[in-house]
Amino acid sequence: MSKSSDILTKIPKIKHREETLVQSGDDISFDRVIRSRRSVRSYKDEAMPQSVMNKALDWALLAPTSSNLQCWEFHQVKSQDKKALLVKACLGQSAARTASALVVAVARTKTWPKINKLMLEEFEKQGDKVPSIAKTYYEKIVPFFYGQGFLGIKGFFKRIMFFIRGLFSPTPRGPKSKADMRVWSVKTTALACENFMLGMTAQGYDTCPMEGFDEVRVKKLLNLPNDAEVVMVIGCGKRAENGVYAAQLRFDKKLFLFDH
Ligand SMILES: Cc1cc2nc3c(=O)[nH]c(=O)nc-3n(C[C@H](O)[C@H](O)[C@H](O)COP(=O)(O)O)c2cc1C
Repeated sequence: MSKSSDILTKIPKIKHREETLVQSGDDISFDRVIRSRRSVRSYKDEAMPQSVMNKALDWALLAPTSSNLQCWEFHQVKSQDKKALLVKACLGQSAARTASALVVAVARTKTWPKINKLMLEEFEKQGDKVPSIAKTYYEKIVPFFYGQGFLGIKGFFKRIMFFIRGLFSPTPRGPKSKADMRVWSVKTTALACENFMLGMTAQGYDTCPMEGFDEVRVKKLLNLPNDAEVVMVIGCGKRAENGVYAAQLRFDKKLFLFDH
């Protein structure tokens, strides 16, 4: 009989094979892109091609996502009136005010049942190609882990269950509350934001991630539902001559890197 942890521990018998697309020398381009991405706070007054935006957004959606539940949304604010209001909600920051385009990255804690359903429909289409353990994961384990129940009641019982089980064996400790679900969805969305920003850089454009905004106003402006968490507003465009305020500053890596 299979256990729920088999999805993590057992290597399924599958026919799928996928080679990496990376070629020798790609690391040099990657290094150039990584080092060129800077937070740009002043942009040239020029329009940005939609094709650049589309490509970066496509790359954003290729970021890793927890249980592949794709709990992210990217909202492009195209209307001039809305853009003006968004700039205001971003406290008038120059990185927003001078940007050619503004994108709002949103994490969602309640869209996972819809994506879960799409996943199961996709499995249905793929038939025998999908290992049964994957189906079990999305049919049973995903609803158990990500569902928190009415008023978080299920989450409360999960907390007790995880605690007791955790006394005896390694146990995932969450998500078991609304707050955990926020962290869960923000993690995935932030990874997509980085893909997006690097994607802009790779195409010769710049960005600035912003958390300096009034979330209530941004949510109202974009008509976002309750479960939406505005992760960041990203200013995009071509850097003005004075767009980067100083050389990139990082402290001694000993502060951040550890061996165990
Ligand atoms: C989550 C997050 C929020 C940020 N919010 C703002 C912001 O509101 N305004 C701003 O000018 N920069 C903001 N930044 C940019 C940081 O200040 C910047 O990344 C940092 O100073 C390092 O500079 P670099 O990005 O050029 O390497 C934010 C960055 C992150 C990751």
